[in-house]
Amino acid sequence: MTTVSTLPEVVTVRAPAKVNLELRVGPRRRDGYHDLATVFQAVSLHDEVSVWRSDDWQVLAAGPYAELVPTAGENIAVRAARLIAARGEVDEALTIRIDKDIPVAGGMAGGSADAAATLLACDLLWGLDLDRDELGELAAELGSDVPFPLQGGNLMGSGRGERLTPVLARGSFDWVFAVSGTGLSTPEVYAEADRLRQQWRSGPPPAPRVSARLMAALRSGDAEALGAALGNDLQEAAFALRPELRDLCEAGIDFGALGAIVSGSGPTVAFLTASHEAALDLSVSLSAAALCRDIRRARGPVPGAQVVAAPRTPRSPGPG
Ligand code: C5P
Repeated sequence: MTTVSTLPEVVTVRAPAKVNLELRVGPRRRDGYHDLATVFQAVSLHDEVSVWRSDDWQVLAAGPYAELVPTAGENIAVRAARLIAARGEVDEALTIRIDKDIPVAGGMAGGSADAAATLLACDLLWGLDLDRDELGELAAELGSDVPFPLQGGNLMGSGRGERLTPVLARGSFDWVFAVSGTGLSTPEVYAEADRLRQQWRSGPPPAPRVSARLMAALRSGDAEALGAALGNDLQEAAFALRPELRDLCEAGIDFGALGAIVSGSGPTVAFLTASHEAALDLSVSLSAAALCRDIRRARGPVPGAQVVAAPRTPRSPGPG
């Protein structure tokens, strides 16, 4: 009998955006990063990444934010593919197609989702069969936020944000994301946060910790309690760099949101609402107030990166 070895020709993986329910930032470390204590929630805005073999490295982008997607040279998805290629000793170029639905450079880790999706897609395309820990290590090399979208759900992040542990959580939450202007640079927001903290306090900031209040709100699944417990140590820095974000947060609360928070390093603002209907109402009010460029609704938590399609075709006959 002849066994047939099969590898897919195209693999498509979808990966979710995230919101940091709480983001606590410790002192700046020697390597330039900051120790974090954060709780990530994956939300139902997804990018889809498809990979296939080609003569040269190429990135194709589609979807509402396609024109903002970096080209092959600087795209984190290409870095992800090259990294896993080196790990698997594969010497092949790829075309990477990104169907982009996650706002670009908004603090929702869209680039990180693309990198996570690419790692999983390449693992399947090349038949490398890396386990979850190995993929997680490669993800952490690519960026602090890349390991999370591989797993999704609700997870606590420590270290640079790349060390993930489970949290007890129940329920599902309705979010409205107000995409405001173009990207804020993450290093600039961290630098501004350091500068503001030097002004406000004499000693170094304490070791970062997620609040008991947030953990209790997640355990109970109570949206109102969660709305009141949202917190982000980068928020004042984002407000200092983009004063209009403060107005946007306040407007959302006035329109009935249970909580408002700058998402990660911004400039997207995340509003927690009481229900799907409340999210619809808030979207209409924010849209009428014309305070932001784009408005997206989503639910969280959702699972991490998932294979959408990997059609298998016979490749070469194996030893019989
Ligand atoms: O890890 P990533 O490449 O996403 O980080 C981008 C930048 O954000 C870093 O170069 C650093 O300036 C800042 N950062 C930080 N502390 C973290 C994560 C990111 O200072 N924990």
